Amino acid sequence: MSDQTNQRGNWNTKLGFVLAAAGSAVGLGNIWGFPTQVADNGGASFILIYVACCLIVGLPVMVAEFAIGRNTRRNPVGAFRKLGKGWFPPLIGLWGVLCGIMILSFYMVIAGWTFSFIFEQLFAQLGFMSASEWVTRMDSGPKNAFFAILFILATISIIVGGVSNGIERATKTMMPILIAVLVIMAAYVMTLEGSTKGLRMYLLPDFSLINTRLVFSAMGQAFFSLSIGMGALLTYGSYLRKNQNIVESATYVTLADMGIAFLAGLLVIPAMFVAENAGITIIGDDGRLYSSSTLVFDVLPGLFSSMGGLLAIVLGTAFFLLLSMAALTSTISLLEVPVSYVIDEHRVPRKKAAWLVGGLVMVLAVGVSFRTNMISFLYVIFNNVGLPLGGLMLSIFLAWSWKTRNALDELRHGFKNPEKSLFLRFWPAFVTYLSPALIALVLITTLYNLLGG
Ligand code: TRP
Repeated sequence: MSDQTNQRGNWNTKLGFVLAAAGSAVGLGNIWGFPTQVADNGGASFILIYVACCLIVGLPVMVAEFAIGRNTRRNPVGAFRKLGKGWFPPLIGLWGVLCGIMILSFYMVIAGWTFSFIFEQLFAQLGFMSASEWVTRMDSGPKNAFFAILFILATISIIVGGVSNGIERATKTMMPILIAVLVIMAAYVMTLEGSTKGLRMYLLPDFSLINTRLVFSAMGQAFFSLSIGMGALLTYGSYLRKNQNIVESATYVTLADMGIAFLAGLLVIPAMFVAENAGITIIGDDGRLYSSSTLVFDVLPGLFSSMGGLLAIVLGTAFFLLLSMAALTSTISLLEVPVSYVIDEHRVPRKKAAWLVGGLVMVLAVGVSFRTNMISFLYVIFNNVGLPLGGLMLSIFLAWSWKTRNALDELRHGFKNPEKSLFLRFWPAFVTYLSPALIALVLITTLYNLLGG
């Protein structure tokens, strides 16, 4: 067993693990998805519901994933096979592997956009107009495919390095830079004219806007943003040492994720109103604020261009660099799930496994590059349905098959005074009843709406 443990690799430091898991959580979902959802759902009331979803459903499920991972020291398929009986449990893991590959197929294309946009302002301000236009094209299949492939190659090269030398080292470098860039940019935007209007909209809740649709979007956003429901954090947990406190680490990861999403909103929403001040349209024909790709790839670049000169280069480059780094620490965790599955279950060496799975993702991502209208469809199936379904099966499996008392034994490792912990006292009821019930409710409603109800 210890041989196998060493061979699988471990996180080198406690902080390294927290940063890697936080890197997985902090991604396009935070810096692009969260502000967009807030803009779409009427400001601060969304933030409140989102925080509640993260704490009531997200954190307990994250703890469950870490516990299963560390206890079994296996990829999701092997983990469920080891703890459960019969043919069904491994399928929960396999669903996670499939969701990972399918989420990657479109996430890589979006990540490729964030990467190519890094060069827009530089080229434009230096007078290379056609190059600047080319990097911002989002309807060109070959261009999309080129940057998606670059991004996949970057992800593979990190995964090949293994757990501590690859993933841990890369995320430990990128996360502090990411936070610094975000804070500096948000602070700068606050000083610009128009930003207070955005701040007001972002921070003052309008409770009349809270409805079921908003709650469901918040729940979907929480799953995607926290990286739960497909075994990514289970896989990261499988490289954990016994002396690390899982509950404490999961709390840090959740707080980091919520904190960075909140910060991103402090940057993006005020920036929209600064853009409006500069004469850029930010309200669509439907009377709502622009969101998603229009916001990130139209409104904000428009704002940077309007500033001109060096400022445009610095801000434009920094913003898309920020998005690219956030995306990269996330694609690493998404790819690690199928890669660890191939390593563990098919006894393939890490390097070969990374190239095999990476190659498959490339083929799919090239397909999506030419048909970008598939992105929203894939997002709905594998994010809105896939992740809650995975989280639901995982909680039910933990509570009714593995049993919470075994999970609690796992959580006590590395915990100083487990008897005194309020979290541990309530956690079993959360994963057994509350989280599955809430997830099931959201899932059923989502499916009902999807099927045209
Ligand atoms: N959490 C990331 C984001 O916010 C996306 C992500 C990375 C993810 N790994 C995941 C989502 C695993 C679900 C499962 O962009």
